[in-house]
Amino acid sequence: MSFFTYRKGVLHAEGVPLPAIADAVGTPAYVYSSAALTGHFSAVVDAFGEARPLICYSVKANSNLSILRLFAGLGGGFDIVSGGELARVRQAGGEAAKTVFAGVGKTPEEMAAALDAGLLLFNVESAEELEALDAVGRRLGKKAPFALRVNPEVDARTHRYIATGLKTSKFGVPFEEAVALYERSRKMRGLKAFGLDCHIGSQLTQSSPVRAALTKVAGLYRELKARKHPLEYLDVGGGLGITYTDETPPSVAEYARVVLAATKDTGARLVLEPGRSLVGNAGVLLTRVLYRKQTPAKRFAIVDAGMNDLLRPALYEAHHGFVPLVKRRGKEVEVDVVGPVCESTDVLAQARSLVLPQPGELYAFLSAGAYGMSMASNYNSRPRPAEVLVAEGAWRVVRERERTEDLWRGERA
Ligand code: LLP
Repeated sequence: MSFFTYRKGVLHAEGVPLPAIADAVGTPAYVYSSAALTGHFSAVVDAFGEARPLICYSVKANSNLSILRLFAGLGGGFDIVSGGELARVRQAGGEAAKTVFAGVGKTPEEMAAALDAGLLLFNVESAEELEALDAVGRRLGKKAPFALRVNPEVDARTHRYIATGLKTSKFGVPFEEAVALYERSRKMRGLKAFGLDCHIGSQLTQSSPVRAALTKVAGLYRELKARKHPLEYLDVGGGLGITYTDETPPSVAEYARVVLAATKDTGARLVLEPGRSLVGNAGVLLTRVLYRKQTPAKRFAIVDAGMNDLLRPALYEAHHGFVPLVKRRGKEVEVDVVGPVCESTDVLAQARSLVLPQPGELYAFLSAGAYGMSMASNYNSRPRPAEVLVAEGAWRVVRERERTEDLWRGERA
């Protein structure tokens, strides 16, 4: 169910008309629905039922403190990939003891900070990283709890830029090398083998790659247990896709059935790392039309949001719905919606049939809650947008629009 709906031709988030927010905070602005965030999280809890997995929200999808706080309040843990994300989690009141740490390039400093904070699990992605973690553990007089992220070598059938489980991928350790590495870890006094991890990719729209990967990984988990490694957690990663246009990803109930069936004989406590499926369709990006322009080849609408605000279309040719905040009747024409950034790829919506946008009119890019603001940049010296959270019929700014002077913070002329 969508929490962004038209009422009398005006797009609302929960009960709040979006034009009122745009007028108050300006554009571009991200707007999130807390009912949607809560609803998506609760759906995972319900779908997994008695298995009671630890739901570690993948912070990279949207790292706003208010969203982290909301998920922490629902009992969620976190999946992080940097010391910065750990600091955010703690700042938002999240628990390090429910946090897992992935990424191929963790520095010893990041490892030490996380170990000190009492992290649940380091998801280790190479033999050299394992040695570095051991050294950090010994230096701090602790046993760092680790899981190896194994690469199950299945094709996730998603965009090649966000597939992570292929043989050629930089992520994880080759499946066949995992047992030997766990065996080697027995001699490393700064480590404790505590789990096994995988993640095959993002925006997964089919369940068969998940089934194939987890069947392999569950088999490995059982083998490691048989070899008396004291594993407790099986981290199945994230990746469940969402509907941007006409994709039909598995429902969360179907996803849960597949995960539970594949892992049922392991006796492991499951860790999930959902990102996009929790926040993607809980957010929109509001923008205002600046100008139109017609060339012999095309008709353009130029809006005040650019690829620096929403990178996905430029980076992955991703599709985001583009709809008016106030519906208007009229003949539809084909329009390319472009931003102000000086790049040819700054096309946010291509060849859309729209009632010709008017200067000053407000629109929303849909499904922008995941990998929207978290991938925003200051390219072209554009301050990043404001973020707003709607809850129970009210709204508040959860991140101020960057000011011009923020652009050179830390610089010296
Ligand atoms: N766990 C690990 C180890 C990951 O690498 C990721 C995402 C997740 C969990 C969360 O995956 P999700 O549930 O959100 O699919 N910027 C791209 C997506 C990159 C995903 C990176 N890893 C995009 O905008 O589509």
